[in-house]
Amino acid sequence: MSDRIDQIITILQGIGEKLRGAQHVTVLTGAGVSAESGIPTFRDAQTGLWSRFKADDLATVQGFRRDPVSVWKWYAERRVAALQAQPNAAHRILAEIERRVPAFDLITQNIDGLHQRAGSQNVIEVHGSLARVKCLGHQHMLDHWPEAGEEVPPRCPTCRSKLRPDVVWFGELLPEGAWSRAMRAVKACDVFLSVGTSGIVEPVASLVQKAEEQGATIIINNLEVPISATPQHYYLNGEAGTILPLLLQATWPERSSPV
Ligand code: OAD
Repeated sequence: MSDRIDQIITILQGIGEKLRGAQHVTVLTGAGVSAESGIPTFRDAQTGLWSRFKADDLATVQGFRRDPVSVWKWYAERRVAALQAQPNAAHRILAEIERRVPAFDLITQNIDGLHQRAGSQNVIEVHGSLARVKCLGHQHMLDHWPEAGEEVPPRCPTCRSKLRPDVVWFGELLPEGAWSRAMRAVKACDVFLSVGTSGIVEPVASLVQKAEEQGATIIINNLEVPISATPQHYYLNGEAGTILPLLLQATWPERSSPV
């Protein structure tokens, strides 16, 4: 463990200078950043949601049409779990980095709202949010979940079609506004930091390559090397709640108080 930390500190010394001098930092996060808050990832072998549940049943429009009650209840439970979870050190450090650099965007695939609760301001939710619902028929949006009534799922107050969570399911397009903001954030950045994502799900996975193509320094923190990683990337192996505080300390050693 301490060998690994020493190795990471050496890498961090190289990265610190780049991050300190960065004009625009863009961060991409995935489920791994919330794992230490007790929210399961998707693809971890034992605890990952997709090793225990079928994505086809729970994360597609077809699955919702087949069994809207189960799908609604599954997301309702995930919403409660997210509300009960607390942001961890990784969320807090990312909010702190935002305060220290001239320009910053945080693109997240997560729908749990923990970045905002940790104080991040420029959050781009490319896979939607558990905080909102919309209707199946016309995409009428509600910025809150309706009070639980007799009918599950509840109906849209405007058109009476079934409500569903405002999250992106397999086979659906990403929300247009969020995706164009994400592309702008990638084009503008000189440092791109990816935290806790397997880099498997497109089109988000390709953002790393886009950032690299336009010359950004790429830093990756994960428990395993994502498939999109190349030898040119700085790779920091370990839990985000341990690694990101070290990154903050290596970048601004004179200003680092515990966050
Ligand atoms: P995954 O479950 O695919 O990947 C999570 C990654 O986080 C893995 O590579 C883990 O090694 C890593 N990890 C786990 N704990 C960590 C920790 N404490 N610190 C750092 N890394 C850690 O999750 P995503 O990449 O977010 O899409 O998955 C992408 C999308 O696939 C999700 O947004 C979701 C899913 O299907 C939709 O629901 C549309």
